[in-house]
Amino acid sequence: MKADDLTARIIELKSRRNAVILAHNYQLAEVQDIADFVGDSLELSRKAAETDADVIVFCGVHFMAETAKILSPHKTVLLPDPRAGCPMADMIDVARLREFKARYPGLPVVAYVNTTADVKAESDICCTSANAVKVVESLDAPAVLFVPDKCLGAYVASRTSKRIVLYPGYCPTHHRILPEYVLEQKAAHPDAVVIAHPECTPEVLALTDVIASTSGIVRHIAQSEEAEFIVCTERGLMHRLQQDNPNKRFYNPGNLNICPNMKKITLEKVAWSLQDMVYSIEVPEDIIRKARAAIDGMVGIG
Ligand code: 13P
Ligand code: SF4
Repeated sequence: MKADDLTARIIELKSRRNAVILAHNYQLAEVQDIADFVGDSLELSRKAAETDADVIVFCGVHFMAETAKILSPHKTVLLPDPRAGCPMADMIDVARLREFKARYPGLPVVAYVNTTADVKAESDICCTSANAVKVVESLDAPAVLFVPDKCLGAYVASRTSKRIVLYPGYCPTHHRILPEYVLEQKAAHPDAVVIAHPECTPEVLALTDVIASTSGIVRHIAQSEEAEFIVCTERGLMHRLQQDNPNKRFYNPGNLNICPNMKKITLEKVAWSLQDMVYSIEVPEDIIRKARAAIDGMVGIG
């Protein structure tokens, strides 16, 4: 089917199903373009909690759709490709989290939203890259366990006086943004602002001017007087940046910054998802209840 026909089909099915399409900032350009809302993990969680649609088609990865289901358990939440996972989220499971907790008894657990529902259910509070520092600061404890992203955790540690115990997880896509790629771009574009997602390594973050979540990057660039940016994150964000800022220039550090899981969602799969009502995300009730408490804590924090 041609792209225009597919788009028309998606619009027709969306209205028939009373569905809303939410897309993460790393989605393919054409998927972002048909979405009702494009945003970062925190914004998408908020939208999922607020929507009065019957069906949420979540164009992102599994943990994001699961978070939407936890926040809207009576709605149907569809992930157009069930294989769209997050390797970082898979670096921790309940057994490993319990082991980690047993080594540091009494410390609260802050779980990055990039975790499975089971892991969230075993954690005290969640965070996203947009609110991680605020979430850690909100806890009445001098030290916290931070899972699973050691890079986001190290970034938070640099912004708080609390002791952060790191778990050794990481994002394979952000790890492929090497400091030498950033240095190459800086040499080629000496006036460019270097802006990065906190999933980048500490070595890359040390070379940057601004650190923010994906939508934080979008907002910073929209408000900036500067004309050139080296953007250290998954390259799907470039689509929105170029659309919103046609007169600004953006440079990619290297060409390995592609999350293959985010790219598993295509227009065809969105259409099939609405047509066949697949793949429905299901989370057991007791996990929903416990994970919800951890997510609600973070959604309330700005
Ligand atoms: P954001 O919450 O900043 O959108 O990041 C989500 C993510 O998976 C980054 O790799
Ligand atoms: Fe997971 Fe990294 Fe992909 Fe984000 S970019 S979904 S953290 S693998």
